[in-house]
Amino acid sequence: MDKIVIRGGNRLSGTIPISGAKNSALTLIPCALLTEEPLTLRNLPRLADIDGFQHLMTQFGVSASIAGHRPEDFGRVVTFQAPRLTSTVAPYDLVRKMRASILVLGPMLARAGEATVSLPGGCAIGNRPIDLHLKALEAFGAEIELAAGYVRAVAPDGGLPGGDFDFPVVSVGATENALMAAVLANGTSRLFNAAREPEIVDLCNLLVAMGAQIEGIGTSDLTIHGVNRLTGATYKVMPDRIEAGSYACAAAITGGEVTLAGAVARDMSATLHALQAIGVTCEEVAGGVRVAANGPLKAVNLSTAPYPGLATDMQAQLMALLCRAEGTSVLNETIFENRYMHVPELARMGAHIETAGRTAIVHGVERLTGAEVMATDLRASMSLIIAALAAEGESVVRRIYHLDRGYERLEEKLALVGADIERVSDE
Ligand code: EPZ
Repeated sequence: MDKIVIRGGNRLSGTIPISGAKNSALTLIPCALLTEEPLTLRNLPRLADIDGFQHLMTQFGVSASIAGHRPEDFGRVVTFQAPRLTSTVAPYDLVRKMRASILVLGPMLARAGEATVSLPGGCAIGNRPIDLHLKALEAFGAEIELAAGYVRAVAPDGGLPGGDFDFPVVSVGATENALMAAVLANGTSRLFNAAREPEIVDLCNLLVAMGAQIEGIGTSDLTIHGVNRLTGATYKVMPDRIEAGSYACAAAITGGEVTLAGAVARDMSATLHALQAIGVTCEEVAGGVRVAANGPLKAVNLSTAPYPGLATDMQAQLMALLCRAEGTSVLNETIFENRYMHVPELARMGAHIETAGRTAIVHGVERLTGAEVMATDLRASMSLIIAALAAEGESVVRRIYHLDRGYERLEEKLALVGADIERVSDE
């Protein structure tokens, strides 16, 4: 397994290219199941999860051909094509490695009239149920059966009639599965209290480019008029707002100044507002967002929430930044029940943080010191990288396969702006 070694203290300065969004790519790729025509996605980030999803798609007879990527580019162009499906089963050994695999359920059901997907199970940050995915598909007329660790969904003969579903809890994945099922339904479907994340907008924009009819894009009430068939498309994945926010925290904690090339300010406005409250200058510039430290960091109180609120995927990274703020910050993680596993690892670097349930109290400290720490989940591992960049001395971050799931060529990007960072294999 690899590890990352960082010698902290360098001010980050320069430009970091932002890659395509992992959490958009993971819902755009399964759209290839909705048509027999080729779907070409540009700006696909080179990430373990994307490779994993590509491999999963080949299980169903989908071809995936990489075209037109240049070594100096970040991201790839990949064309997916599913002229006919050779299987409608997503097996346990693949789904357990990447829970986003559940996102084949809706499109597979819409295309083939049936789908059998292994239940994804929980993960480090929570038990991650999929009840809302299933309730939405039932509302559209699917028969759902749970057996032997698999969910089996079957549409009536002639396809899903469509229907209405009011989400009791905002769910990104359930909204995505519902959208991908509704676009080929026989009638009109309406979703209420749907997720509004920019990744949902990216999905709707792709589906419309493929011929879907969707109203209310960007709002929490979506109306989908089912169509008989969808065409292929060529579509560019949106930039990753969480990657951009993560590097903004890295720049800020080192007292640096970084331009996030390709970042879209409006997609990350809650993060930018939090950074500005902490005393970091953030401004939209041509082609991206510029973030610059501007004096001492100030403690703030933050609460995660569904978009347009502060992204739960930014909580760990902002916590690392607040470890160096003057004063005490209170964080409230409202989305997942166990998303503080970075706390004991940050404490090894000298952070002073108390947690109680979904609340974390961060007492700013004068200095962080380098240590050997262990990544536990994707965003937790990024918070350790951020802390290590500002820590005195050397830090070693192990189990960085978590990082590789969501951050494309992280050490190259940080070295671009002056970080003393290297990836070494860990015999
Ligand atoms: C997506 O996960 C993202 N993953 C997550 O990013 C992100 O943290 C999350 O949305 C929230 O923004 C991808 O897009 C691949 P949810 P998802 O359904 O869809 C509960 C990262 O670090 N819930 O919006 O699984 C659930 O337990 C990852 O990139 C149900 O109760 O999140 C949670 O408490 C981590 N029943 C809340 O809703 C359901 O059927 C929000 O979950 C579904 C969800």
